[in-house]
Amino acid sequence: MPPRVLVVDPQHPDEGALGEAVAILRRGGLVAIPTETVYGLAGRALDPAALARIYEAKGRPRTHPLIAHVEGEAQAQRLADRWPEAAALLASHFFPGPLTLVVPRASTVPAEIAAGGATVAVRAPSHPIARALLVALGEPLAAPSANRYQSVSPTTAAHVVRGLGDAVELVLDGGACTHGIESTVVDVSVTPPRLLRPGALSIAAIRAVVPDLVVPEEGAVVSASEVRASPGLDARHYAPRAHVEIVEGQDAAFRRAGELAVAGKKVALLVRSPVRRSMLTGLGMSVSILGESPAHYATQLFATLHEADDRGVDVMVVEALPAHEDWFAIRDRLRRARA
Ligand code: TXA
Ligand code: MG
Repeated sequence: MPPRVLVVDPQHPDEGALGEAVAILRRGGLVAIPTETVYGLAGRALDPAALARIYEAKGRPRTHPLIAHVEGEAQAQRLADRWPEAAALLASHFFPGPLTLVVPRASTVPAEIAAGGATVAVRAPSHPIARALLVALGEPLAAPSANRYQSVSPTTAAHVVRGLGDAVELVLDGGACTHGIESTVVDVSVTPPRLLRPGALSIAAIRAVVPDLVVPEEGAVVSASEVRASPGLDARHYAPRAHVEIVEGQDAAFRRAGELAVAGKKVALLVRSPVRRSMLTGLGMSVSILGESPAHYATQLFATLHEADDRGVDVMVVEALPAHEDWFAIRDRLRRARA
């Protein structure tokens, strides 16, 4: 049986829908919720049984810790054993928003959320539905992206339904997510703070507040077996079913997509700016234009990957992206999609 889907207006979240979600959460169930980054699979963060259900629903190994979603800094602090100076600085600038902070874990926070580790990840989402739900519930929510382990994160309620089916009881449909890519994760339990996962909040924005931020070399992969590792840093993650090829230059990408289409493959070409029209579009090649800025590209990326899978695309040919740090998060997701 598919989950129930309730359409909720982000501007005026319906009390009835929020009430249903709260009731499900209070009895230990799971609800998929929109956030400004991607949809999350939410369960009560302080309830080990709910946490177990989340791991089960996602098919996620228990070595991969979950993010606790909170109303704001005060609630985040209650989950932390210590609130480092960098946490205070970053929270004052970026909470609520697409930033996750890894802090020392308070002893009252179940070890299950942190995969047994000594830290806990906290984030205050800015999406009005997520915020309203957190306020109505009055306690933090664990919410990983609402997809099966190692598949593409959902940016619409339809993606959630297709990916999780009846593993979730209720989906609050607040429309498409504005950022379309997951939050940036920064470990502030260490000094200097360290970037664990590039994401929706730019590295430049974080550096402006914490100039000594350590940014690992692009493409550095952290072992999945390390408890402290970010699950988003598995080599294969965010992966579509289609094979992904990254080609330098739009012309070369266009030619490569054409070759594959002529060879009988169903091809999706992903570029940043409009390409010339081609007869090949009728011949099993589709073209998606994702945009010239990292922010715009990010809003389109996961939806484009989902759509290509739905259409049974064999190969996605992706025009390579600039090596500039502003593209770091998107280059990261594409690299993993190809792995
Ligand atoms: O945008 C987002 O962050 C979305 C929405 C739903 O909020 N959530 C999300 O959760 O992407 P998930 O579970 O798919 O990714 C969890 C990320 C990992 O990549 C990892 O970086 C980090 O959270 N994480 C969680 N707990 C951690 C911990 N104790 N130490 C290090 N990293 C942790
Ligand atoms: Mg995820």
